[in-house]
Parts: sequence; structure tokens; C-alpha cells
Amino acid sequence: MIRPFARPIPLVILLACVTLIPVMIASIRVAQIPTGQLPEESLRLSGAPFAHWLHSLAGALFGFLGPMQFARALHARFGRLHRVAGRIFVVAGMVMGLSGLGLLLQVESIATPLLDIARTVFSVALVATLLLGLSAARAGNRAAHQSFMIRAYAVGMGGATVALVMLPMYLIIGEPVTGVSSDMVFIGWWLIMIALGEWIIKVNSSRKLVT
Ligand code: HEM
Repeated sequence: MIRPFARPIPLVILLACVTLIPVMIASIRVAQIPTGQLPEESLRLSGAPFAHWLHSLAGALFGFLGPMQFARALHARFGRLHRVAGRIFVVAGMVMGLSGLGLLLQVESIATPLLDIARTVFSVALVATLLLGLSAARAGNRAAHQSFMIRAYAVGMGGATVALVMLPMYLIIGEPVTGVSSDMVFIGWWLIMIALGEWIIKVNSSRKLVT
């Protein structure tokens, strides 16, 4: 029987490894933006420094706290820490979604409208699922709370982890995927991550694999 998120690989370690690259890049940007040390490929975002910095900070917090929040041990033994970290996670996710919209509005896009529309939809979906998860927690509906938070995490990290597919593609093809093809891969990967989240919600509701 396949037991994808059961021990010996705790979910927290698996998620932290899979999301390491975007969380590290976001953390580095938090220091680079105010000190004016952005790499060349990110200079175009310096037209919206505040949204760029907020988005990076919120992305780093969201990505760092997400795996911890899904750790069963933390929730069971340190309930207060789970609640405090959960509030920061929700605020970070909302700031990330809203500042993502801010970047879309303020910076000239190098993507196709297809990806920009997808980013807009996913930003709104992220804010909505976080609010629904928060309201379920307040109403004491633990099952709905868990489902919405898993959904929010999948929506938030889906696009950020696209390097996991772009890098192998680059190594196979020998050149970076660009233009419409790149944006299709981006959106396809994002949707696969959301579908994976839905699958985890389904399995979790019957076998309690998460939290
Ligand atoms: C719903 C989720 C998200 C949306 C809609 C979103 C949207 C965006 C947009 C529109 C940009 C500007 C891209 C460009 O024009 O080149 C951007 C950049 C960025 N995003 Fe996100 N993002 C999301 C999630 C995340 C997450 C989870 C992280 C980190 C863990 C993250 C970290 C970053 C960073 C660091 C940049 C700046 C990249 C650079 O400086 O080169 N984002 N995001």
C-alpha cells in the first residue's frame, strides 16, 4: 500500500525540501531589495519596490511556516504555537496574494496574458481560501479548517515551485522553455499542485495523514 505522507519521511521535512528554492530566493530578496543589490533578472521589479519586498517577505514566511503548520506533533503538543504561527501564516498568505496583485498591476509583464490571468485568479483564490480556513477555525470546524489551509498552501506554493519542473525540462531540452510554452508549463504545474492538495484533503479526511 502507498503511504505517501506517513512516517518515516515526516510531511514537514518533505514539504520543506520541495519548497526550499522559492523560500530561499524570497528570503534573499528581503535583504537585497532595500540594499539595492537585486540580480539583473529581477531589476525590472524594482519599479515596485514596496510590493516586491512585501511579496518576498510574505512568501518567505508563508513558505517557512506552512510545513510546520502541517506537522501533527506541533499541533498536538504545542497548540498555542500552532495558533500563533497560524495567524502569521494567514496574514503572510494574504499579503503575498495582495502584493502579487500589486506586482501584476505595477510592473510591466514579460509573461503572456494567460499567465497573468492565472496569477490574478490564484491570488484571489489564495486570499479567499485563507479567509474561509480562518473562519472555519473560529467556528470550531476543524475538518473544514484543515481542508482550507491545505488548499491555501497548495494554491500559494503551486506557482512558486515551478522550478521543480522547469529545471529538468531545461536539462533535457538543453535550453530554457520560453514564451507561451513556458506559461503553459507554469499554469499546468500550478494546477497539478492544486489537484495534489485536493487529493491530500481527500485522503486526509479518511486517514488523518495531515495534522
Ligand atoms: C498565489 C500565489 C502567488 C502569486 C499570485 C504570485 C505572484 C507573483 C508575481 C506576479 C510576481 C512578479 C513576477 C514577474 O513579473 O516577474 C512574483 C514574484 C515573486 N514571487 Fe510570487 N506569487 C505567489 C506566490 C509566491 C510564493 C509562495 C513565494 C515564495 C515562497 C513567492 C516569491 C516571489 C518572489 C521572491 C518574487 C520576486 C522574484 C524576483 O525578485 O526575481 N511568490 N510573484
